[in-house]
Amino acid sequence: MNRKLTEIIQAAVEIDAGDPKRIQHFLKVQSFADYIASRENLPAETSFLLEVAAILHDIGIHACEEKYHSTAGHYQEIEGPPIARQILDDIGGFTEAQIERVLFLIAHHHTYDPKQIDGLDYQILIEADFLVNLYEDHSPESAIVSARDKIFKTNTGLSLIEQMFLVKSC
Ligand SMILES: [Fe+2]
Repeated sequence: MNRKLTEIIQAAVEIDAGDPKRIQHFLKVQSFADYIASRENLPAETSFLLEVAAILHDIGIHACEEKYHSTAGHYQEIEGPPIARQILDDIGGFTEAQIERVLFLIAHHHTYDPKQIDGLDYQILIEADFLVNLYEDHSPESAIVSARDKIFKTNTGLSLIEQMFLVKSC
C-alpha cells in the first residue's frame, strides 16, 4: 500500500481509537473503493485521492457526536473537512487541488443527487459506503433493491451489490 495511505490510516485510527466499528467501517469502504476504482479503470491519481477520501469520509463523526449529539450528514459535512485538512497538512506532500478534491468528496458523500455527482470518484465513494452500510445496518432486501436501482451506477458496484446481497446462497 502507498506509504501516504498508511500514514492517513494511522492518523484516522488514532482519532477513532476505542471505536473498532468506525475503524473497520472506513477500512472496508477504502477497500471497496479501491477495488471498484481498479475494475472501472480510474486513473491512478484519481484512484489514490478517492482512497484518501474513503479513509477520511467519516472522520468528523466523533466531533459531531460531541458537539451536536448527532451524526447527521449535514453536521458531518461541516466537521469532517477541517479535520481531514489537518491530517493531510500534517502528512504533507499534497497539492491544494488534491486536498480540495478530497475535502469535497468528504463533504458530499451524503449527497446522492445525480446532478451533483460530478465524477466517477464521487460515485464510487457513495457506492462503497452503501455496500458497507447496507451490511452493517442489516438493511432489508427492499432497501438493498432501492439502493441498487437509485444509487448504483458503475458495473462493478452493481455487480457487488447483486452478488453480496441479492444472490441466494445455497
Ligand atoms: Fe461511511
